[in-house]
Amino acid sequence: MKNKVYINNKIKSFNKKIYISGDKSISIRSVLLASQAVGVSRIYNILESEDVINTLKSIRKLGINYRKINYYYKIQGNGLNGFTTKKKVVINAGNSGTLARLILGLLVNSKKEITLIGDKSLSKRDFSRVTDPLKIFGANISSNKKRLPVKIIGSEFLRPIKFTEILGSAQCKSAVMLAALKTPGITKIKAKKSRNHTEIFFKNLKIPIKVLSKKNYDHIEITGEYNFKGFDYKVPGDISSSSFFIVLTLLSPKSQLTIKNINTNNSRIGIIKILNKMNANIKLKNKKIYKGEQISDLIVKSTKKLIGISCPSHLNSSAIDEFLILFLIAAKAKGVSTFKDLGELNKKESPRLDIGINFLRKIGIKVKRFKNNIKIYGNPELNLKGNYGMKNFRKDHRVFMMSCIAALTLGGSWKIHDKDSINTSFPSFIKLIKTLGAEVF
Ligand code: S3P
Repeated sequence: MKNKVYINNKIKSFNKKIYISGDKSISIRSVLLASQAVGVSRIYNILESEDVINTLKSIRKLGINYRKINYYYKIQGNGLNGFTTKKKVVINAGNSGTLARLILGLLVNSKKEITLIGDKSLSKRDFSRVTDPLKIFGANISSNKKRLPVKIIGSEFLRPIKFTEILGSAQCKSAVMLAALKTPGITKIKAKKSRNHTEIFFKNLKIPIKVLSKKNYDHIEITGEYNFKGFDYKVPGDISSSSFFIVLTLLSPKSQLTIKNINTNNSRIGIIKILNKMNANIKLKNKKIYKGEQISDLIVKSTKKLIGISCPSHLNSSAIDEFLILFLIAAKAKGVSTFKDLGELNKKESPRLDIGINFLRKIGIKVKRFKNNIKIYGNPELNLKGNYGMKNFRKDHRVFMMSCIAALTLGGSWKIHDKDSINTSFPSFIKLIKTLGAEVF
């Protein structure tokens, strides 16, 4: 099957209202928490992408039943000790770091050995950031030099831990929080700021949790072994998926887009804060709080006068998945943009810092790099002609989507490989840009 796309024309101006599929982080957390609840949970508007489907398949392998009924997934949890495992269960997390790392937290009390595997990209990523703290709880874990496959057998004698998370990784923080849920006593976590969906879910489910918020760190205390009931949840739209449409609109003359019902949790909207500092025009309308999460409509208008930014690194974690698309904006902005401390970008589905820099140079943008800090010399007149190709990016969905947005806004004739990468996070991406008028073959 053809697995590449061709884009030969910029998108024409558009004025539309769209819906974006459910948030990936929240979809995965809702399934994993439903698997621990006592009784039935119903999850609406779940993101039906490979990462989330792999989450559902994983809980089924661990003995949890679920069914899709019309618009929702019905998940039958059996409480905190409800995983019933046969011998030698292998869980395949596919491409998903979030699934792989969070489920390890839930396996700290597993009675049988579970082997965790993943695709080529996931198999290159570090797992010691979660296996190290999980070992302190008492779980028995081995890995292949800090990488997958990871084997875990839980312990009957878990003990609460004190843990400091210094990377600003929500996956790491959440794995420890889920292990804390299974462990008697009070686990204390000091975590560098990162997305807080797990904390919000815990509060919502009345799991005993205290969060003391400081400038750069949160202090979290969880009292474990609290059995909570099944719940109903409607997953809001994904800001990370929206970011491609935000940038498409900003860079397309005379265009306007309303994106409905998006999760605008403060720990996720770094992209909006950064873009508005660059002179973009993005407004949040119809704000409401749903089960602790802020939800809004995004109103985006094209912007002619984008300016460079000296991006404060405290915004990095709240825009962690959006830097590739931000680099593209910086390329079209007037002046120099600087981004600092981007080391974590090279730990993602692909080495995104390296790939982003190569991409910018390929389209004729000057970039200077010093360690994990970069300077991008923007060119508002950038208008591409000629042929461009994108391949060998470890099938990273976000590299694929950023390349499509570049092709639709900067010009040139593009051949972009690995279309099926979008299935991990945003299967309807191509269909949706076509509804705005994009010509993608
Ligand atoms: C995620 C956290 C982030 C992000 C990932 C999803 C989550 O990773 O990049 O796409 O759902 O917790 P890190 O926590 O490793 O930074």
